[in-house]
Amino acid sequence: MKNIFIKTFGCQMNEYDSERLLTLLQKGFRSVADYKSADVVIVNTCSVREKAEKKLYDLLGRLRLFKKVKPHLIVGVVGCVAQQEGEKIIKRAPIVDFVVGTHNLSLVPALIAEAEEKKEKSVVVDYRGDWDLEVSDELGETPLEDYLDFNNINTFGNFYSKTRALVAIQRGCDKHCSYCVVPTTRGRELSRGMSEIEREIKFKVQNGASEVMLLGQTVNSYVRVGGLSCPDRISFEDLVRRVADIQGVQRIRFMSPHPQDVTDDFIKLFAEIPKLCPSIHLPMQSGNNRILKLMCRNYTVERYLEIVAKLRQVRPDIAITSDFIVGFPTETEDEFADTLAVIHDVQYSFLFSFKYSPRPNTLAIKKYSESEHIINDVAQHRLRQLQELQKELSLKFNQQFIGREMQVLVEKIVYCDNGKRVIRGRNPQNILVEIDSEQKEALLNATEITVCGESASPFAVRGKFVNH
Ligand code: SAH
Ligand code: SF4
Ligand code: F3S
Repeated sequence: MKNIFIKTFGCQMNEYDSERLLTLLQKGFRSVADYKSADVVIVNTCSVREKAEKKLYDLLGRLRLFKKVKPHLIVGVVGCVAQQEGEKIIKRAPIVDFVVGTHNLSLVPALIAEAEEKKEKSVVVDYRGDWDLEVSDELGETPLEDYLDFNNINTFGNFYSKTRALVAIQRGCDKHCSYCVVPTTRGRELSRGMSEIEREIKFKVQNGASEVMLLGQTVNSYVRVGGLSCPDRISFEDLVRRVADIQGVQRIRFMSPHPQDVTDDFIKLFAEIPKLCPSIHLPMQSGNNRILKLMCRNYTVERYLEIVAKLRQVRPDIAITSDFIVGFPTETEDEFADTLAVIHDVQYSFLFSFKYSPRPNTLAIKKYSESEHIINDVAQHRLRQLQELQKELSLKFNQQFIGREMQVLVEKIVYCDNGKRVIRGRNPQNILVEIDSEQKEALLNATEITVCGESASPFAVRGKFVNH
């Protein structure tokens, strides 16, 4: 067995791809938590903002030094920067042995073998319209624990956990928001066949998962909207209904729905399916209609707020999270104030917020001149204002759980700042819950436990285990 270190940047789709990669490599590799003990390092990259792209080159810089002490180290770059930059990565960082884009990850095992034989460097970034990295039949009955080292899941990012099955139902994106690189790095929208989705979910549930998180860049446009079709087409809503019928699935989430594809049937799901958690990540991006139009988001603030109201009507306890971009070219102070006002109106439980970052091959980078860009200090100030407002709202949201009992799905043990080990899980609203308990190992093997909230921060709730 050789040691492999997979570093995953970016979104839940990349975490999913890293998991599949490790699955393909399970026969010959053991996953390790640090590149210093690795024979092979794979960097699964993100290109959504310039900062994310820079992380690749920072890591490659460190690996270049490390390769001096470990000359047989093999380095592969996969994912969105790989798709976007191709051989430019090898020119800039000659230690890289191969570059594989988002459509050809199944070639990685062969490319590692080639690199071991010191063959030429390879770059594979061809588009494919079929579903790469299908669940391999070889997986058979192998328990997940046999090939995924759950102590090392931190290298996979935030979404990955033993109890949560990430299941991609769609790849690519056909939306073309003007700021976004994803349609070029991930390609056309492609929906995956229902029978494959069911097979993967059943497999993961049999192996210990109780929550299923369905993934797609615009997950609720599954099949309904354009894109490349799959053989057994059903609507997103019927797909969720079918997933709810799978034995052993206790919780369902999905990420990320697009407001443009929200229908009344979609909203009905939250009334109809108790297993569907009362939480939704519904990216809004801006609270101003002119900016939304420039972003090509295809909905208005009014429509977005209508969706929020309808969701709250059918599921009053629902937690709503979102993504916002500040400082989109030409955004005025007043337009930014509209964003703050909407955030205040919606009362989000949590937000992911970003400064606009110009990306290659996007409409926005072609359209706006330097003078139309918002200067960095102004964008930074807007971001800070937004984040300060949200911190207050998140704290207020989380405080509602103090003194209340809730069901928490245990995910992992982590170390806190003070060096103490705590159990981490999520309540139905997807709020992080940390439990300091004496029975850590026993609790980690449990699935859902009852916890009473004791204190709250903007990022988590602290609670104690209630043994009924
Ligand atoms: N498909 C998802 C988003 C994927 S990218 C959706 O549409 O909901 C995650 C988030 O990154 C986006 O929602 C957006 O807020 C942010 N983002 C994307 N491109 C960006 C850019 N060029 N600059 C800053 N933030 C960006
Ligand atoms: Fe990017 Fe828009 Fe597609 Fe999301 S919907 S991945 S923001 S183009
Ligand atoms: Fe990043 Fe690619 Fe995801 S650009 S956000 S890793 S789809």
